[in-house]
Amino acid sequence: MSELATLSHITHDNLVHLIGGCVDGPRRMLVYEYMDNGNLAQNLLDNKTTLLSSWEVRKGIALGIAAGLAYLHEEIHPRIVHRDIKPTNILLDLDLRPKISDFGLSKFFPDDITHITTRVAGTLGYLAPEYAISGHLTRKLDVYSFGALLLEIVSGKKVVDFDQTLGEQYFLVERAWKLYKSDRLVQLVDPVLMKDDGNVEEAERFLRVALLCLQQKSILRPTMSAALKMMNATTASDEGGGVVVEIMEPGLIGDFMAVKIGRRQQDNKQQSSTTTTTTEGAASVL
Ligand SMILES: *[C@@H]1O[C@H](CO)[C@@H](O)[C@H](O)[C@H]1NC(C)=O
Ligand SMILES: *[C@@H]1O[C@H](CO)[C@@H](O)[C@H](O)[C@H]1NC(C)=O
Repeated sequence: MSELATLSHITHDNLVHLIGGCVDGPRRMLVYEYMDNGNLAQNLLDNKTTLLSSWEVRKGIALGIAAGLAYLHEEIHPRIVHRDIKPTNILLDLDLRPKISDFGLSKFFPDDITHITTRVAGTLGYLAPEYAISGHLTRKLDVYSFGALLLEIVSGKKVVDFDQTLGEQYFLVERAWKLYKSDRLVQLVDPVLMKDDGNVEEAERFLRVALLCLQQKSILRPTMSAALKMMNATTASDEGGGVVVEIMEPGLIGDFMAVKIGRRQQDNKQQSSTTTTTTEGAASVL
């Protein structure tokens, strides 16, 4: 019902189009436009299909997701925080245009309030620290999740995964920050995208935007429209071009035990490192 209410009001090229719905006792269905190419997780992370092996395609996907989020955050009233931005919720149409889907957790956000305190729901790896720890919800939660997703899009690696060679869990955000500090961020760019030097430079710029979106302090994260401008600038002298602001340490919930969240469901067995979580019994307070 939440999803129906949200989607019946909005249309945008980068939001999945809801065709209809049915609520008949226990039977509940939402009917969407058909997405020929499935979701981003399947193509980018699980199966590594050749569909996404060019930088132009990855770039188009990143820009489209940013445009969809900027629309939700800044162009409609009331504003909408999606709350569950992650690769499985990004669908790809025949032309590989990205469409944000699954508005089951999204919240309307009245213009005159700065944040909502809510029970924590979402997916580990994409949860901003202030939200995971205290339920403090602002649009900057989606900006953080977008940052994590953008790292995945450019690197082709999962935000949290098990490193077979090191035999331990790794966090992509932490890895990106270490590489950035030692001036080796370019090493994170997916090797399949390295065919052309110009691309590499642009891909590295996207990684810096991702790190900005992931800043520990939510106030240091850009708005989605600002992030879009930084990514889509053709030259550094364009308005908002390049990434001129200083990048500080990103926020990371490395210790999942410190987060007071209960387990709600497992996405599926293969994806157990990205667990969907929710607090138990916490009240929603506006
Ligand atoms: C991977 O691709 C194969 C062949 O295209 C398909 O049958 C399979 O379902 C895909 N797996 C996932 C996880 O998407
Ligand atoms: C990116 O910039 C180009 C050229 O300025 C523009 O045509 C396009 O609409 C922009 N893309 C997005 C997603 O804003």
